[in-house]
Amino acid sequence: MKGTSGDRSTPRVIAVTSGKGGVGKSHCVGSLAIALTKLGKRVVIMDADVGLANIDILFNVRPRYNIGHIISGEKELKEVMVTTKHGVKIIPGGSGFANLTQLSDGEKLNLLSEFETLADVADIVLVDTGAGISSNVLYFNAASDENIVIATREPTSITDAYALMKVLARDYGIRYFKLVINMVNSEKEAKSVYASLGGAMDRFLGNVVLEYYGYIPYDPQLQKAVLKRSTVFDYAPESPSATRIGALAIKVAESKIRPGSDGNIKFFMKRIFDAAR
Ligand SMILES: Nc1ncnc2c1ncn2[C@@H]1O[C@H](COP(=O)(O)OP(=O)(O)OP(=O)(O)O)[C@@H](O)[C@H]1O
Ligand SMILES: [Mg+2]
Repeated sequence: MKGTSGDRSTPRVIAVTSGKGGVGKSHCVGSLAIALTKLGKRVVIMDADVGLANIDILFNVRPRYNIGHIISGEKELKEVMVTTKHGVKIIPGGSGFANLTQLSDGEKLNLLSEFETLADVADIVLVDTGAGISSNVLYFNAASDENIVIATREPTSITDAYALMKVLARDYGIRYFKLVINMVNSEKEAKSVYASLGGAMDRFLGNVVLEYYGYIPYDPQLQKAVLKRSTVFDYAPESPSATRIGALAIKVAESKIRPGSDGNIKFFMKRIFDAAR
């Protein structure tokens, strides 16, 4: 099965990010990954949240190694990745991503050559970047082909999402963002969040496009799944949030990589090093 990007050497790298923490990034990444797998895509999650990496907890898997073992040359990517029962592969970040700016040339080479092998196993790479405007969040966004921003209707989540996109546009030239609004009661509510954020961007940022990408309803079933150490797809596949994430996955699977982006996975890491310079 090939990715929508066509060429085997070019998995799409999609950053999932937010201004404010706790808005549902990791759950969105995890569920989206499962839904995309059901659509026949080969999905790898990169857990790049250097603060509270928790994709492994969400999937209830216990990785033995993390990206640090690749950087040091002790392990290969295929030894570090863990595969969930859904067939989703996870690259645990651990603290390994925290010091990308200080890597030696040899360590960078280890990462670059191992990441090249991702092309053999992935159509889509989802990066859980963590929240905020710390340099790591910015680097991972800058290096990715697409940028999905998650926000809720909370005012602080909206202003923080704006602040993040402003920095990414100003300092990294990112001009296109896809907005997913989480934990709302209706699509109407989601659209009003989109209208206020999109309106502010039009007024103050200019030349930056914010696409309405979809919404995920507030779903008590998702919280029950969390308590059961399960994902909403396993616990309540017919629940409102699983249904909407399924719809989102179809959108992701069908969307083409944006023109001008360089989908080569090897360049993903190179772009991170460039951004970190
Ligand atoms: N659609 C939803 N409906 C109800 N609760 C939700 C929903 N999405 C997320 N949550 C709740 O929000 C909590 C935080 O979600 P998650 O860990 O995915 O956020 P995050 O953005 O990754 O946080 P962090 O910034 O700390 O990494 C979840 O444990 C869950 O309880
Ligand atoms: Mg998270």
